Amino acid sequence: NPTRPQMEEPAALRPAACRAKGGAPGFKVAVVGAAGGIGQSLSLLMKMNPLVSVLHLYDVVNTPGVTADVSHMDTSAVVRGFIGQQQLEAALTGMDLVIIPAGLPRKPGMTRDDLFNKNAGIVRSICEGVAKSCPNAIVNLISNPVNSTVPIAAEVFKRAGTYCPKRLLGVTTLDVARANTFVAEVLGVDPREVNVPVVGGHAGVTILPLLSQVSPPCSFTPDEISYLTNRIQNGGTEVVEAKAGAGSATLSMAFAAAKFADACLRGMRGDAGIVECSYVASEVTELPFFASKVRLGRGGAEEILPLGPLNDFESRPGEGEEGAEREHSEGRVVHEQVRS
Ligand code: NAI
Repeated sequence: NPTRPQMEEPAALRPAACRAKGGAPGFKVAVVGAAGGIGQSLSLLMKMNPLVSVLHLYDVVNTPGVTADVSHMDTSAVVRGFIGQQQLEAALTGMDLVIIPAGLPRKPGMTRDDLFNKNAGIVRSICEGVAKSCPNAIVNLISNPVNSTVPIAAEVFKRAGTYCPKRLLGVTTLDVARANTFVAEVLGVDPREVNVPVVGGHAGVTILPLLSQVSPPCSFTPDEISYLTNRIQNGGTEVVEAKAGAGSATLSMAFAAAKFADACLRGMRGDAGIVECSYVASEVTELPFFASKVRLGRGGAEEILPLGPLNDFESRPGEGEEGAEREHSEGRVVHEQVRS
């Protein structure tokens, strides 16, 4: 029909700037490992975030499909896909926030440390890319073992001369999400009303929920403390075993990572009072890296908050009676394991 107006060029073929018209200023975010179990759901959640104007999805496999799929969501973020090492630079250039869920997940019987050999190399090459292409970006590092991948990333950035401790954040939000969920179950309240600080590290007994600092204030019996501490520390293993070889937590992890990324973006925007737990370079203990509450701001982790008052269970390094040694030695184990 000649009277009919010409179809517009498909939006995907026009420059990104045209599509972002009228929108509030947003941030450029990359998901690295976007085709994985965490990466796909996380990409979907970041596409839903109104603070994101440009979303880059990078992986070494399968990004075209994930990108085409996510890009059909009618939210404002412009999505672009990148595949393979030769496109890493293009994927990272200009990014404000880089979220990294790349690497192998655990299988039953594995500890997070068993992933070290493979994932250390993956994190190293991605961080070399960050140092080169977006040295001022804030990095949210999810790849396990977080207790080790964060120090590795720090070394890569130091070597490149781009290291800023405020911009390197290990994601431990899933530990907090689990703690909130399990504590809410015990208290019989809505988990959204509960906030449990979780400090230390992100592996087994290095995960230390501060049940004495739960908000809203509450108290637990010794049995509840023992049950909650164990369940929170072993939440990851609970999922690995239930998945029986098909991987580790992906859906709850994507949810937690999206929540943490959103907090980072709000901090970067200048919102006040954004506090989350994260595994960062730290001076709150004698350890170089430690998870604790941090205040997020324009430059990343602007302030690392003190641990606050700890009770005996949380702070005493193994003075327990016989048979209760493990329960009472959490503090010491936290220190030993994070150091290793
Ligand atoms: P997955 O195997 O489903 O996905 C990993 C993705 O990373 C794959 O698509 C793979 O192609 C990609 N990848 C591998 N090498 C890459 C490279 N050099 N550059 C870019 N992408 C690369 O694994 P899943 O379940 O998504 O887990 C990812 C990581 O997150 C694992 O290391 C896992 O242990 C960790 N994790 C961390 C948690 C945390 O609380 N911080 C919780 C759950 C998992």
